[in-house]
Amino acid sequence: MLSLRSVILAASRNARVERLVAGAPLSRSVVRRFVAGNDVDDAVRVSRELTAKGLTVSLDHLGEDTTDAGQADATVKAYLLLLDRLRDAGVTAGGRVEVSVKLSAVGQTISDELALEGARRICEAAAAAGTTVTLDMEDHTTTDRTLATLARLRADHPQTGAVLQAYLHRTERDCRDLATAGSRVRLCKGAYNEPAEVAYQGAEDVDAAYARCMDVLMAGDGYPMLATHDPVMIERALGLGRTAPYEFQLLYGIRPLEQERLVAAGHAVRVYVPYGDQWYGYLMRRLAERPANLVFFLRALASRS
Ligand code: FDA
Repeated sequence: MLSLRSVILAASRNARVERLVAGAPLSRSVVRRFVAGNDVDDAVRVSRELTAKGLTVSLDHLGEDTTDAGQADATVKAYLLLLDRLRDAGVTAGGRVEVSVKLSAVGQTISDELALEGARRICEAAAAAGTTVTLDMEDHTTTDRTLATLARLRADHPQTGAVLQAYLHRTERDCRDLATAGSRVRLCKGAYNEPAEVAYQGAEDVDAAYARCMDVLMAGDGYPMLATHDPVMIERALGLGRTAPYEFQLLYGIRPLEQERLVAAGHAVRVYVPYGDQWYGYLMRRLAERPANLVFFLRALASRS
């Protein structure tokens, strides 16, 4: 039987549904809950607000799956402008505000070389601003290519972060490979619609896999970045008593009080902040994760007059 999650995730990649939803007179408040705003000024403003609270930030210029080289180049330029503006705002030093990049937004669908070249330009600008880049992970058909591009980027920019998705059967092994000195690894559960041949399907299996992967990263020599809102996983991480540095990561607009509580308790917390007008795929993945978000979305749609 199709789950609500898989129906929404299928819709997240359907151009007709996208036109319908993106074109609907959507209340801005729905998008605004999860997205900083449309342009670079919004990204800088929200970064300032969050860093003033002791949080760190990873900014994502929204957009993915481009098949147009011109669009890929425009995305790279948007990141260069963003990094320039963040540096001027004085928030990048020491990696306080970094950026997250989807390789499919900078040309991976066209060619690995194009994506590598775009990501390299972004890494160079980030390094010049004193900060880092993390490569988001997309669906499983891109995992090998993304890790290969990461390895090539790390030759010049060893601080470039990886993302691993616990729901993939392969990920515990990838965690072992990447838990090495200086290696920044974000561990998330995984947000795409994946077949049973490659990914755990049930929440319990995914949680168990997340815990196993967390153990590998937290026992390793790298820098674990635990991306989850799950209170059980957060408590579990705290219980491991790791003394070497690591951080928690949560999404903008999700459990903001928990973000502040963790900071107040002395933990390092980074908020992943998307901005831009290509919010459709991102928003649909957030709706798929939590039925309560869907209710919130539908209520906002219905309350539009
Ligand atoms: P899950 O969705 O299983 O929720 C577990 C519990 O967390 C819930 O029962 C509830 O208690 C709490 N919770 C969750 N959402 C809540 C909400 N809205 N309000 C209140 N409580 C809530 N994915 C990917 O495939 N590639 C990537 O590159 C990234 N990058 C990324 C970065 C960061 C910083 C984060 C936090 C997440 C990602 N993800 C991602 C998304 C990730 O894979 C996953 O889909 C979501 O984080 C949801 O999984 P959770 O671990 O939060 O738990």
